[in-house]
Amino acid sequence: MQHIAVLTSGGDAPGMNAAIRAVVRTGLYHNMQVSGSVAGYEGLINNEFRDMNSASVGNIIQRGGTILKTARSKRFMTPEGRKQAYENLKARGIEGLVVIGGDGSFRGAEVLATEYPDIRVIGIPGTIDNDLFGTDFTIGYDTAINTVVEAVDNIRDTASSHNRLFFVEVMGRDAGLIALRSGIAVGAEAILIPETQTHVDKLIAQLERGWKRQKSGHVIIVAEGDDAGGAFKIAELVQQKFDKLETKVAILGHIQRGGNPTCMDRVLATRLGYESVEALLAGKNRVMVGQKAGKVEFTPLSQAVKHIMDVNDTILKMAEIMSL
Ligand code: F6P
Repeated sequence: MQHIAVLTSGGDAPGMNAAIRAVVRTGLYHNMQVSGSVAGYEGLINNEFRDMNSASVGNIIQRGGTILKTARSKRFMTPEGRKQAYENLKARGIEGLVVIGGDGSFRGAEVLATEYPDIRVIGIPGTIDNDLFGTDFTIGYDTAINTVVEAVDNIRDTASSHNRLFFVEVMGRDAGLIALRSGIAVGAEAILIPETQTHVDKLIAQLERGWKRQKSGHVIIVAEGDDAGGAFKIAELVQQKFDKLETKVAILGHIQRGGNPTCMDRVLATRLGYESVEALLAGKNRVMVGQKAGKVEFTPLSQAVKHIMDVNDTILKMAEIMSL
């Protein structure tokens, strides 16, 4: 393999730059040409590539976002879009593609590699949601949960000064992992996630209990994809039956997607970036490279996207006991 390309796709995640850097430098170490596709699959279709050298990935390991830009490409979902992408890759002599992204990006990669088997594809899990099967953590998750923890600690200060009830909405359209882990770390009074049913009456009973024992300030973490609705909706439902505490809503939004990656994310990204190139050279195809229990593991892309969070009842029980 002489020439590979790397791209970032879907929602950006802190640590994507560190992964790009590792892919580029490992490729160069093996005397390969490395191209960067601009704005994910859009770059493949538009034939917009950057020649990557060692200097082009200098001084980026600590930066959030992605120097290659990212997009959610609708055109790549069409056979015509993928054909154009394939022809551009072929014309440049690119034989291997490293896709850094989440489930939507991997679905696209899997279809491309199935339709055009002479392009080998490796996925690197890059999403703040941590919702891929085959890796304990995705790149960006650790940074995102630490951002949430810092923000909610600040909110907790003002919540307890005013004896207020806060509903804090965190990202996770389909997955509650950001909410669950950060909720435990901030000592949330309740954690509402899409994977479990939210019972407003139970929530109110918990709030009554806290109010009776004169808790100063309550913080409820709500994943944006919770079945009962977002933070505003749930706050409204609760307020209709429980008006003992003044209620506020905070939506953390995209601050969770930016910022300097944590040490954990930088190291994970570097390791997976390095392993992705080694995997292409070893002939691997249509797999995601992940890390489980400290070891590098490969999972078919088609399996990696089938993540359904195994909600650990003990963890949920523990979180509840901690808020009593
Ligand atoms: O997939 C990552 C993610 O941050 C989700 O948690 C969130 O629902 C979504 O992206 C938001 O996407 P966008 O930035 O396109 O609004």
